[in-house]
Amino acid sequence: MADRPLATLNNPEPALETTLRPSVFADFTGQAKVKERLEISVQAAKQRGEALDHILLSGPPGLGKTTIANILAKAMGANVKATSGPTIEKAADLAGLLTNLEEGDVLFIDEIHRLQKTIEEYLYPAMEDFKLDIIIDQGPNARSVRLNLPRFTLIGATTRSGLLSAPLLTRFGMRERLDYYDAAQLQKIVVRSARLLNVEIDETGAHEIARRSRGTPRISNNLLRRVRDYAQVRHDGRITETVADKALAMLEIDQNGLDEMDKRILETVIVKFGGGPVGVSSLAVAVGEEPDTIEEVYEPYLIMEGYLQRTPQGRVATELSFKKLGLKPAGGKQASLF
Ligand SMILES: Nc1ncnc2c1ncn2[C@@H]1O[C@H](COP(=O)(O)OP(=O)(O)O)[C@@H](O)[C@H]1O
Ligand SMILES: [Mg+2]
Repeated sequence: MADRPLATLNNPEPALETTLRPSVFADFTGQAKVKERLEISVQAAKQRGEALDHILLSGPPGLGKTTIANILAKAMGANVKATSGPTIEKAADLAGLLTNLEEGDVLFIDEIHRLQKTIEEYLYPAMEDFKLDIIIDQGPNARSVRLNLPRFTLIGATTRSGLLSAPLLTRFGMRERLDYYDAAQLQKIVVRSARLLNVEIDETGAHEIARRSRGTPRISNNLLRRVRDYAQVRHDGRITETVADKALAMLEIDQNGLDEMDKRILETVIVKFGGGPVGVSSLAVAVGEEPDTIEEVYEPYLIMEGYLQRTPQGRVATELSFKKLGLKPAGGKQASLF
């Protein structure tokens, strides 16, 4: 996501991410079913002495896709080569990556939905038969050469699995979707992170941060750091419920964990577009954000929490959104929804 603005609180901070990122499944909270299926695959592959099947991890940003890819590689005792869809510009870039892999290595492709179509096609035989057809030389001497690749594992991560083509999707032996975390799980994550960062926090303080983190561990960790600053400067450094609440209010994170952009989106749908339906591109222009970011970062949470509905005509604000903004749904088209 380097070339695109994202929600500030969901921006990876590289140093922080490395310190707080769990490196084994035992430290990875939540996503129990996904974890169980992956752990079984790891154990089975190890028993057979084989590479892990190709795995696709999907879900909104900050839920643990990169973390899981690293945990999997470590559990397999494999090396990870990490890249991302938009950085693979030419078929030769991909060929370079693939031919440098060793038996059992993990190739991690982040944002795999942003891989170019032409490059994607080189991946099919690589994933399926561990073969790579490359064209060498140019002009009359050009010829296709088939290279054998080592048995590797492709782990793809995407915020938009819906944008992946069917041929690519079906070449992943496992496809796992990560869901938003509940407050209890995030509270565990906050407590763990606080310990790693040497921050004093009580259960109520951790709970307050957890329940206002949009279901997202990355946001929990980032809020924890901001609340820590506040606790240090305005209080004695200890994070309690009151301190967390004051700090979060200062950060304009509301009681339901919605941030400024969330609220701007709801307000725009309601005030500017009469409650909707409004298409995502019009909405994006009106709030000054990229349509992709609206779809990948904001909308999934607002829909899950019941603030927005996605209809074939566009996004519609629900009664809950009107209530949140202290407004009443007008009569007319959207009234029939309630
Ligand atoms: N299940 C989890 N348990 C503990 N920490 C987590 C978990 N999932 C994510 N995190 C934390 O959130 C951060 C973001 O996770 P990451 O794997 O980078 O998300 P994604 O790749 O899905 O955007 C990580 O650095 C890690 O500290
Ligand atoms: Mg990631």
